[in-house]
Amino acid sequence: MSRVAVVRKLLDAGLIPLQDRFEVRVGGLGSSDQGWPSLVAGASAIVADPTVKVDAELLDAAGTQLRLVANFAVGHDNVDLGACRERSVIVTNTPDVLTNATAELALALTLSAARLFPEAEADLRNGRWTGWDPTAYRGLELSGSTVGVVGMGRIGARYAELVCGFGVELLYTSRSPKPEAESALGAVRVGLIELLSRADVVSLHAPATPETHHMVDSEALALMKPTSVLVNTARGTLVDSTALASALVDGRIAAAGLDVYEGEPQVPEALLAAPNAVLLPHIGSATRKARDGMALTVAENVIAVLSGDQPPNRVV
Ligand code: NAP
Ligand code: GLV
Repeated sequence: MSRVAVVRKLLDAGLIPLQDRFEVRVGGLGSSDQGWPSLVAGASAIVADPTVKVDAELLDAAGTQLRLVANFAVGHDNVDLGACRERSVIVTNTPDVLTNATAELALALTLSAARLFPEAEADLRNGRWTGWDPTAYRGLELSGSTVGVVGMGRIGARYAELVCGFGVELLYTSRSPKPEAESALGAVRVGLIELLSRADVVSLHAPATPETHHMVDSEALALMKPTSVLVNTARGTLVDSTALASALVDGRIAAAGLDVYEGEPQVPEALLAAPNAVLLPHIGSATRKARDGMALTVAENVIAVLSGDQPPNRVV
């Protein structure tokens, strides 16, 4: 019987179909990277997630019978794709089933950052609210604003569709043109510099790659309007967090809504201290529907590969 190693945790929607067919070993949420090599030894498939670094060492610890790394996420920057290719190991991910959930979270971050929720709520909770004040908490109104989408892929396009309901002007930057978003939503493709300087809201939806590393750095932030809002539900590495924290504190941008960080679960002190940042703990896909869909997608990919079929969501 083939062995499947779930490095941390897989929800029942995916775990049960795997247990019905294979010998499944589960590391658990508390497992540490020191225990992972022995957990994966002898496995034909490894189920990883964004917190699990799948590198040459882990692949070799599994052994030459390894055929698949099934990532329980759409982003796969935690997996060394080159090392997988060299060892003829297939890599799969979980696209589509989490697109709505993540786009909705980006919209929630957009509205809560634009309307300065953290500052307003903290004042109320801490007894600093002295009553209705026409000068206080004057944020950005989404309707009539210009929204810039960086990475018009599945999630970026769904976010664009949602914000369009507010009556916004839509700009986007992507590696390739997106004629559908242009005709259906009136989105206009511009370069990153133009997008940063014109948008009232900049929402990041590109993957973590060497190209996108720190694409929002101090120079990029300097191009943004002092009234603008940055939203990041993509990956922490897209933003230089030190530069962002000082832009927030100095009022060089108005607010930020973040779901992802470099070096998770650590969050830089400077960001924690910024009152104009909404900070969430990487919950973009955290709806019951999306997470069950992701778990089932993982199982479908594992079952396909271990049955000798093409998996539905092959990355490599
Ligand atoms: P996707 O469909 O592949 O979309 C990514 C888009 O980014 C593509 O349109 C791609 O352009 C574009 N892109 C790539 N490199 C770029 C660059 N240098 N500059 C501008 N655009 C660039 O992926 P998705 O399903 O929308 O997911 C996007 C990312 O969201 C994932 O990689 C993951 O990191 C993140 N995510 C986070 C959460 C969360 O919990 N916060 C949940 C799900 C996903 P082309 O179309 O031309 O290739
Ligand atoms: C989550 O971050 C994902 O990439 O699915």
